[in-house]
Amino acid sequence: DRLPELLRAMPKAELHIHIEGSLEPELIFQLAQRNQVGLAYPDVDALRAAYAFTDLQSFLDIYYAGASVLLKEEDFFDMAMAYYRRAQADHVVHAEVFFDPQTHTARGVPFETVIRGLTRAKETAQRELGVSSELILCFLRHLSEDEAFATLEQALPWRDHFIGVGLDSSERGNPPEKFARVFAKCRELGLRLVAHAGEEGPASYIRSALDVLHAERIDHGVRCVEDPALVERLAAERVPLTVCPLSNVKLCVFPTMAQHNLATLLERGLCVTVNSDDPAYFGGYVNQNYLEAFAALPQLHAGHAYTLARNSLEASFASDADKARWI
Ligand code: ADE
Ligand code: ZN
Repeated sequence: DRLPELLRAMPKAELHIHIEGSLEPELIFQLAQRNQVGLAYPDVDALRAAYAFTDLQSFLDIYYAGASVLLKEEDFFDMAMAYYRRAQADHVVHAEVFFDPQTHTARGVPFETVIRGLTRAKETAQRELGVSSELILCFLRHLSEDEAFATLEQALPWRDHFIGVGLDSSERGNPPEKFARVFAKCRELGLRLVAHAGEEGPASYIRSALDVLHAERIDHGVRCVEDPALVERLAAERVPLTVCPLSNVKLCVFPTMAQHNLATLLERGLCVTVNSDDPAYFGGYVNQNYLEAFAALPQLHAGHAYTLARNSLEASFASDADKARWI
């Protein structure tokens, strides 16, 4: 069977990766020691053993705790370079990388420290690894819209360092409408717009992400199938969904990979992409997501592999010239 080799080797884009979710336990302990930060776990194995999640919130609690070791520009650089090396190994030619500035500024780490470290890694990855990328600033939806506005204010001097904004963290009870004004402002500024919706939250959050926030892509979006008219619309408008199969299983959105709706979404004609979300926490980088989904879903074959890879490149915010080189 040559399908696994095709999945590994085909050039692809990754459009849904939280850089803080690429922080491996080994690097967490290394940075904790370097920065003299205390951790709630004695060693790497104990930390990894805590990665047993029941829902999104149970993951976010441990994900924000892991990020507490990030203090210096070098820490953000080292974290991102480790991701870019893994992405290159998975034949990722282009990555659009989420970062959560509020997780860091809330601990007294200046926005400037975060963006400088990530930008230096982005430039190094392009130069030394041939991996192109863009940064997407995510607002934490469990915080207020005023706090999102304050973050945008801090980010504006660095406007040229990120391509767009997203919306992440605890979905249920934090609908897109809560961030209508700040997204309108970002739209005026010419920033690209994406939002997590329909991961744990209802299909109506996907509609609001499109109609209220004017999101150009939906992150996750797997619960769209609960609203057939919405599925029709997503297909007709070719709204990309950045699906993260391993994440969905680890966070119990689907009980098993065999029950994941990836094949159904493709069958309905949606512009689906495959991504890793938080690879250090969910059991693998982007190729592992392709491999496990295809292994568990017998309907998927080589034609779907090409479609998914082509979708990922097409749905990216890369220039038409770059897309023409890749597709
Ligand atoms: N932050 C990091 N990963 C996330 C996810 N899967 N959903 C919402 N917020 C996140
Ligand atoms: Zn995500």
